[in-house]
Amino acid sequence: MDDLAVQTYKVQEIISRWGPKPDLVIEMLHDIQTEFKYLPEQALNQICREVGVRLATLYHIATFYNAFSLTPRGKHQICVCMGTPCHALGAPRIVEAIERHLKVKCGGTTEDLKFTLEVSGCVGTCGLAPIVIVDGELHGLVTPVNVSKVIDRYSD
Ligand code: FES
Repeated sequence: MDDLAVQTYKVQEIISRWGPKPDLVIEMLHDIQTEFKYLPEQALNQICREVGVRLATLYHIATFYNAFSLTPRGKHQICVCMGTPCHALGAPRIVEAIERHLKVKCGGTTEDLKFTLEVSGCVGTCGLAPIVIVDGELHGLVTPVNVSKVIDRYSD
């Protein structure tokens, strides 16, 4: 089976899991996001056809909720805090160091789909600024020099 056939099969499984019920499309989209790390266009078309929900409705849901992404995301999510204390203590230089280390622009995903790099507002642990969060794990007192070691722990 090629990649598209595998994807179609997996989306079919997800639709069957919930039943072709239009009021359960958010649950289906969550499962698709979890499975593929984003919502592939083909998957949205498949739901549209098989569940009978308008494509515009699916795109509206996909863009309304932060949990959904219409572009591929990495296996690991890196988030650099850009709140005022983190910013003042060097967060922009940490972002630049990660961009150089992973060869990815902030907001983007590496070509191998391993990492997505993003920034956030204050995450509430300013005492440990600057903060980098990887897959929900918080790393404090990060520097442009040691950030690559932090990231490399996730490069499985
Ligand atoms: S500004 Fe980064 S944790 Fe508060």
